[in-house]
Amino acid sequence: MTSASFPATRLRRTRASAWSRALHRETILTPADLIWPLFVTEGQGVEEPIASLPGVSRWSMDGIAERAKEAVALGIPCLALFPNTQPERRSENGAEALNPDNLMCRAICTIRDACGEDIGILTDVALDPYTTHGQDGLIDDQGYVLNDTTVEVLVGQALNQAEAGADIVAPSDMMDGRIGSIRAALEEANHANVQIMSYAAKYASAFYGPFRDAVGSGGLLKGNKKSYQMDPANSEEALREVAMDIAEGADSVMVKPGLPYLDIVRMVKDRFEVPVFAYQVSGEYAMIEAASAAGAGKREDLVLETLLAFKRAGCSGVLTYHAPLAARLLNG
Ligand code: PBG
Repeated sequence: MTSASFPATRLRRTRASAWSRALHRETILTPADLIWPLFVTEGQGVEEPIASLPGVSRWSMDGIAERAKEAVALGIPCLALFPNTQPERRSENGAEALNPDNLMCRAICTIRDACGEDIGILTDVALDPYTTHGQDGLIDDQGYVLNDTTVEVLVGQALNQAEAGADIVAPSDMMDGRIGSIRAALEEANHANVQIMSYAAKYASAFYGPFRDAVGSGGLLKGNKKSYQMDPANSEEALREVAMDIAEGADSVMVKPGLPYLDIVRMVKDRFEVPVFAYQVSGEYAMIEAASAAGAGKREDLVLETLLAFKRAGCSGVLTYHAPLAARLLNG
């Protein structure tokens, strides 16, 4: 311990004025730390508000292009895309994920046309927006999500997204071995510079509800995802997941949800030399909105404090639906 005892040490000394607090601040949050998740829908001029995510909407292509330009203007470096697939395009095996003209691929092209290389495009690799049962993979007669056959489809989905111009493919499905298979396929298909951000430690969480409404899978899902997403009780297992994904070729790893799992972020950061991201998920966003609507806290302060906490815990960046608000506040 290096501190002298009181009163030689008075920790309040450096806190006494704003300039001194600024000088001693250990962590900074900037718009460049943010990844903005966006929901895509069919049509023209369509904005569909999501009731359980107040302030967040699904956008048709024109709106997606506008949001992308807004992100660039705000200094947000990357968007994460999620499609709300039309019911008639959903199927038992989620084949729409492989359609080169699906919502996701069109959104990628739309953003590229609008913003060129000024923004990164991260795409979700998992089948839940495309299946009639809302699971992230292929299921057997008992409804069990099959690992190896699902990985084959995920590889096709990731290649489809890379062909359309995705910069980062982000597998959120939690199948074993998918990172290695996707990495090998990307190399083979001359997509050596497409990054993989692995949802390495993704927990079977109660905080995903509003997201499932947003992509339209919530009403379809029977049961839960506990046979592939992690048990919230476990942390050693998260380190094993991260170690495997790094070994298989992930460029960065993600912990999800965010705030309730900052201990996992810190453990991963201390253990591995790898960029770590966290997803402040839909239920966390909704909690902040509900708290501020109820007068239990000021939205702006809650948002900036929670996002700063991710940086302090060791995150390189955060996926958050509050990205545009936070960037606006940070830009003054
Ligand atoms: C599904 C997926 C989920 C989220 C991102 N990708 C939900 C789930 O696993 O059921 C959740 C994001 C959020 O809640 O904001 N592959």
